[in-house]
Amino acid sequence: MQVDKVNIGVLASHGGSNLQAIIDACEQGQLDARVRVVISNNAESTALKRAGEHFIPHFYRSGKTHPDPADLDAGIAQLLEDHGVDVVALAGYMKKVGPITLRRFAGRILNIHPALLPKHGGVGMYGRRVHEAVLEAGEVTTGITIHLVDEEYDRGPIVAQCEVAVLPGDSPERLAQRVLEQEHVLYVDTLRRIASGEINLSKL
Ligand code: GRF
Repeated sequence: MQVDKVNIGVLASHGGSNLQAIIDACEQGQLDARVRVVISNNAESTALKRAGEHFIPHFYRSGKTHPDPADLDAGIAQLLEDHGVDVVALAGYMKKVGPITLRRFAGRILNIHPALLPKHGGVGMYGRRVHEAVLEAGEVTTGITIHLVDEEYDRGPIVAQCEVAVLPGDSPERLAQRVLEQEHVLYVDTLRRIASGEINLSKL
């Protein structure tokens, strides 16, 4: 029996390089899934442009389009449902996922964080700050975490991790670049394992 492809909805705020890696993997047949919809809180995000270039439905939804937070949350959940999304992948999404979306997609929302959680995560730990903290702590190893999303930043059950070595003389930028390259690999691989049933999100 032909198993349906996994339908992915991506929420992203800025560059969308993880989104691009997921789109490419789907298009190249490395990932038996499809990106059905992309939503961003940033109208100018490259993530929305990338979605457009691949003819993927994409939407700008923010406090400006929906001043009432509950409306915004319900609108995002509705868009994901309308596009038949099975799994939501946050890829550099700078907003908290609202309670309505969390409830409707419980246990099916992933986030990627550029460090080995529970270290170097939580409120304010994003972008360059994460890598600065890793270097300041004198870590010799950092990495990437993909986890399920709950109502707190960077806290839900861990789905997958991979390590990245901190090299002598690393700057936050150099480290961030090497970590980001591996993020693309880990996100695609994790989604592939979810699509194949190797990872069962409901058992985490
Ligand atoms: C990544 O480092 C990811 O771990 C973090 O935000 C960044 C997004 O990068 N959550 P991009 O927009 O996918 O290029």
